[in-house]
Amino acid sequence: MAAAIVVLGLVALVGPPAALGLDNGLVRTPPMGWLAWERFRCNTDCKNDPENCISERLFRTMADLVVSEGYAAVGYEYINVDDCWLDKERGANGQLQPDYSRFPNGMRALSDYVHRLGLKFGIYEDYGNYTCAGYPGILGSLELDAQTFASWNVDYVKLDGCYSHPKDMDRGYPEFGYFLNKTGRQMVYSCSWPVYQIYAGIAPNFSSIIEHCNLWRNFDDIQDSWASVESVIDYYGDNQDAIIPNAGPGHWNDPDMLIIGNFGLSYEQSKTQMAIWAIIAAPLLMSVDLRTIRPEFKAILQNKGVIAVDQDPLGIQGRRIYKKSGIEIWSRPITPLQQNYFSYAVAFLNRRTDGTPSDVAVTLQELGLAYPGGYAVEDLFEEVSYGVLSPETKIKVKVNPSGVVILRANIHLPRFQSQNQKTVYDPYQHVFRTTARPNF
Ligand SMILES: *[C@@H]1O[C@H](CO)[C@@H](O)[C@H](O)[C@H]1NC(C)=O
Ligand SMILES: *[C@@H]1O[C@H](CO)[C@@H](O)[C@H](O)[C@H]1NC(C)=O
Ligand SMILES: *[C@@H]1O[C@H](CO)[C@@H](O)[C@H](O)[C@H]1NC(C)=O
Repeated sequence: MAAAIVVLGLVALVGPPAALGLDNGLVRTPPMGWLAWERFRCNTDCKNDPENCISERLFRTMADLVVSEGYAAVGYEYINVDDCWLDKERGANGQLQPDYSRFPNGMRALSDYVHRLGLKFGIYEDYGNYTCAGYPGILGSLELDAQTFASWNVDYVKLDGCYSHPKDMDRGYPEFGYFLNKTGRQMVYSCSWPVYQIYAGIAPNFSSIIEHCNLWRNFDDIQDSWASVESVIDYYGDNQDAIIPNAGPGHWNDPDMLIIGNFGLSYEQSKTQMAIWAIIAAPLLMSVDLRTIRPEFKAILQNKGVIAVDQDPLGIQGRRIYKKSGIEIWSRPITPLQQNYFSYAVAFLNRRTDGTPSDVAVTLQELGLAYPGGYAVEDLFEEVSYGVLSPETKIKVKVNPSGVVILRANIHLPRFQSQNQKTVYDPYQHVFRTTARPNF
């Protein structure tokens, strides 16, 4: 199928000025790391399955591999524990404690181990009486639990929302954030606050969520299937006008883990997840067995060009700009900037299943790329450079079924550009500012 694309118009930056966000100085670009849940779930059977159970051994092994297999070198840094690390009972002094049969050296020792590797340590709890898997929640012990995490040198806290009343979350999540802050230790705060409220029919107060959380979940838990990834992509596209303005440096929408390298996604689908997650400025939290991941999936997770899109310093979440007959185009404004123009990452997605690649042909102008000086365009998965293209140039890409082509189009900076001008983008006012320095 050859799809001729109609004019799309400029990629609009809509919505109110972005809120300032949680002022703890962390995650100015989306967090990257490894998270146990999707792949390892609540396997507590260390007797029969010592290699895969939720245990100190599993996290140490994954932390080792994040470093030795090159993931740390491309930006993955958090090693995050999820549910099922706890003992069923609090300790004698009311403190949270791990299941010592699975974490014999305790959480501080695991945290120290992760830190010695140059990585950061994340933990999981729940704003309820229990965690989702039935372990002790933080209700009634918020301050003590925040202090306990700080004493373990935790860097990242994911707070789930099972066994709590969604209407209480408007008070509860900020309250726990207050206690985290009060410890004096900087900890990334990942909230499940909006998704539980949406499920309960409550409209989340995003100005408050942005102010109190570094990232938050909007939608379903990801599962190991293409259908699940598609449902997340659709949710982010269908709700983008409401979702996008909430994202920015220090405060991110979280579409959940990368499931690349597991059982459910093909090679093409894995590239699609990576590309779309980068376009929507998502946290890149791998949930995969790094001992057995195949090289082609590892290469997707370590694609530096796609990671650079995800980690673009402007922190503007991208959007779906075209959707017709199974073809979608997603676009994200990125650096470098020149005058009033952004550079862009553009992902062409083929949702069709009719077995043959689809050709998509479009001019840069139709994609909203109008800088008269042109763009240096490269394909990030194929590592092909198209040279400098003018806005009138028609590009044609071949997109495999359930696959993606992701391009980076960098503003072509004039060779002898004045060194005395610098363009910056103000995310709060949505305007460009060109600063001129005196010319000596
Ligand atoms: C949590 O437990 C307390 C004490 O049993 C109870 O009063 C409260 O209603 C429970 N909260 C929720 C959200 O279930
Ligand atoms: C606590 O909050 C204040 C005010 O928002 C902020 O300046 C400070 O950096 C925070 N401290 C930590 C440890 O997060
Ligand atoms: C939402 O939260 C903000 C600040 O946290 C507060 O000022 C505002 O009143 C809240 N809005 C609603 C509708 O509750």
